[in-house]
Amino acid sequence: MSIPLSIKWDGKQLVVLDQQKLPHEIVYIKLEALKDVYEAIITLKVRGAPAIGITAAYGLAIEAQGYKTNSMIDFLALLKKDATYLGESRPTAVNLVWALDRLLTVVSLVDSVSDAKQILIEEAIVIHKEDEESCRNIGEFGLSLLGDKTKVMTICNAGSIATAKYGTALAPFHLGKELGKEFEVFACETRPLFQGGRLTVWELQQSGVDVTLITDSMAAHTISAKGIEAIIVGADRIAKNGDTANKIGTLNLAILAFVYGIPFYVAAPSSTFDLSINNGVEIPIEERKAEEITHINGKSIALSNTKVFNPAFDVTPAKYITAIITEKGIIYPDYCDNISAQLANSIEK
Ligand code: MRU
Repeated sequence: MSIPLSIKWDGKQLVVLDQQKLPHEIVYIKLEALKDVYEAIITLKVRGAPAIGITAAYGLAIEAQGYKTNSMIDFLALLKKDATYLGESRPTAVNLVWALDRLLTVVSLVDSVSDAKQILIEEAIVIHKEDEESCRNIGEFGLSLLGDKTKVMTICNAGSIATAKYGTALAPFHLGKELGKEFEVFACETRPLFQGGRLTVWELQQSGVDVTLITDSMAAHTISAKGIEAIIVGADRIAKNGDTANKIGTLNLAILAFVYGIPFYVAAPSSTFDLSINNGVEIPIEERKAEEITHINGKSIALSNTKVFNPAFDVTPAKYITAIITEKGIIYPDYCDNISAQLANSIEK
């Protein structure tokens, strides 16, 4: 039993787990150029907010190794152009532009192209390592917050394969397993692309966590029939006031948690907060193609003239969120004050 990893860097090559092939095939693919990384991100071979950021950082750093110029001005112009291109691959998860911005920032500290090439790779590695540490901390804080609760529901995949390791929402389950705490996890299948059914179930099985799959429409019944004690989800972008964008269907669960009187937790690293926006209305919501709804595994389930609305994310208002678990600690309402304060100050566990 082991926690699966989706991003591997061996000092020269970037290799990622093709999440489109899971759970039936475990295939790692090499990403050699910016266009490979772009394609892997838009087709969800690489997915999950932190994993997108880490992969994009490596992708930009790798591409920059091939820039044929000795002029820093030309180098920075190429880098900015490529960062903009990659940053447009998916709009909702802020970790993507956060990681690319970190690369643009470090490169401005050096004077030569050769130093720039080296520092870009180094920074991508730091981003990767930091995310693993953050997720482990989130797991520890999540475990303490969940306390005696063992029956927990989640949606999508905010797991190890969506991050460097451990995951965010799934981190307490992986760590709990290591420490001998047994959870009973209920995974919503997550229509239309089945990240819950295909990825979360597979990932938790890999580390030996007890997991049960339900369809999204079974959530309300399951909360009462199985005595769910808490819901925990990941995030793609959290506004200054705590409003949180996450996989479509998250808002339904938040409202259910409110109605049933159970806690609703969001787990995310600092890189998922966007303090430049005041509330969730400002979060761009990705809309994806109709075929993701009208077809399953390439087979049509709707008439060809069917009108479709396919938002990939929704925004949960902060008022439904009991607490936000970050690598720095647990943030409680009032989020408007507490998010800025706690992100600025590291707090003790
Ligand atoms: O469209 P996806 O699969 O990239 O959506 C992923 C999610 O919504 C996750 O919950 C979120 O990115 C957090 S991953 C730790």
